[in-house]
Amino acid sequence: MLLENKNVLLCITGGIAAYKMADTASMLVKEGADVHVCMTKNAEKFITAETFRVLTKNKVYTDVFDEDPDDPVNVPHISLGTSADIILVAPASADIIGKIANGIADDMVSTVVLPATCPVLLSPSMNVYMYENKIVQDNLEKLKRFGYKIIEPASGHLACGYDGKGKLPTPEALVESIIYEISAAKDLVGKKILVNAGPTCEAIDPVRYITNHSSGKMGFALARAASLRGADVTLVTGQVSLDTPFGVERVDIVSAADMYREMTSRAGDNDIIIMSAAVADYTPENTATEKIKKKDGDMTLSLGRTKDILKELGSNKKDGQIIVGFSMETENLLENSRKKLSSKNADMICANSLRTPGAGYQVDTNIITLITPDSQEELPLMSKLEASHKILDKILELGK
Ligand code: CTP
Repeated sequence: MLLENKNVLLCITGGIAAYKMADTASMLVKEGADVHVCMTKNAEKFITAETFRVLTKNKVYTDVFDEDPDDPVNVPHISLGTSADIILVAPASADIIGKIANGIADDMVSTVVLPATCPVLLSPSMNVYMYENKIVQDNLEKLKRFGYKIIEPASGHLACGYDGKGKLPTPEALVESIIYEISAAKDLVGKKILVNAGPTCEAIDPVRYITNHSSGKMGFALARAASLRGADVTLVTGQVSLDTPFGVERVDIVSAADMYREMTSRAGDNDIIIMSAAVADYTPENTATEKIKKKDGDMTLSLGRTKDILKELGSNKKDGQIIVGFSMETENLLENSRKKLSSKNADMICANSLRTPGAGYQVDTNIITLITPDSQEELPLMSKLEASHKILDKILELGK
């Protein structure tokens, strides 16, 4: 759980997208957050306060004069915003954006946001023409100048019937914005990190290819963890069905040759490179331009070696750069991984065995041994995100 011991305040205003906030509240609770909710009277026309009370197990405030049932001398419209770790105003109507931008406090949400001392995220959601109105845009610019963070609305079919920008992002995206702001110490700010992930596909003809079982989950978790810690992350990935982590620049590739090109052209700009992709070691010598038709008898496919990207980056390592590889083995895990550490001139190899339950491809967990020239540390079974944080901790240690 990424939001344990965090107090998250949801401020809901009157817009049809208010219904999405029930899922958002529920997902935040599942991440361990203590979720509090306040709503405007207009928000109550779209979703009831009772929904949020049940989901969050906390009293929901809808009126400036509502009392705290546990503490009658407390003033909730002040304490809600001063005790929260973060506030998300969503959906943020043009009305609330205008009020906050101009210091107006005349309903439960505006009177909570004005005295708040924590970071405030606003997620505008409204009709496209309302959103594009210069006054609304000017108010948003003003709010940004004062340190409020604006979550860009999504584009698509709007409830008012128009198509365009103005949709509230998905609950997953809203939760990820909160996680991004408060879940981790920003100890990688200023670091540029290049991560690769997933399988490569080596074409035999326009229909068939050679690939492997990599799901990309480890590399995506690494990119997510690094981004949560404030790094500037580029993720070069083979074909996977995973969402791009928040704040990460994604580059999609297909083959080992594509991976080589994208990694070697970017490597020089990065402080840290982490190679978790399962890059093919062999590729068909010739790719047929037309579908290969079957014939009587067997067929032999001639394969040539691909370039070892990690080895090449390791031998061209720039001063102060840290390069980390992965090693997937089915036998002699530590011995083979240590050989890779030196033959590829890597600073660390994260070794995992396909034979260990809970480790390896497709699953959300891993069991990794971190191998450096002077140390060896076996991590217990943990989620790929937790393992990613351990890997990043070790990288920071190596960089000292
Ligand atoms: N790697 C790479 N380029 C390749 C093959 C692998 O950069 N053509 C990288 C992987 O991304 C990983 C590391 O090298 O970080 C080790 O990969 P692994 O598949 O475990 O080992 P190989 O070097 O391919 O050796 P072997 O297949 O013999 O185990």
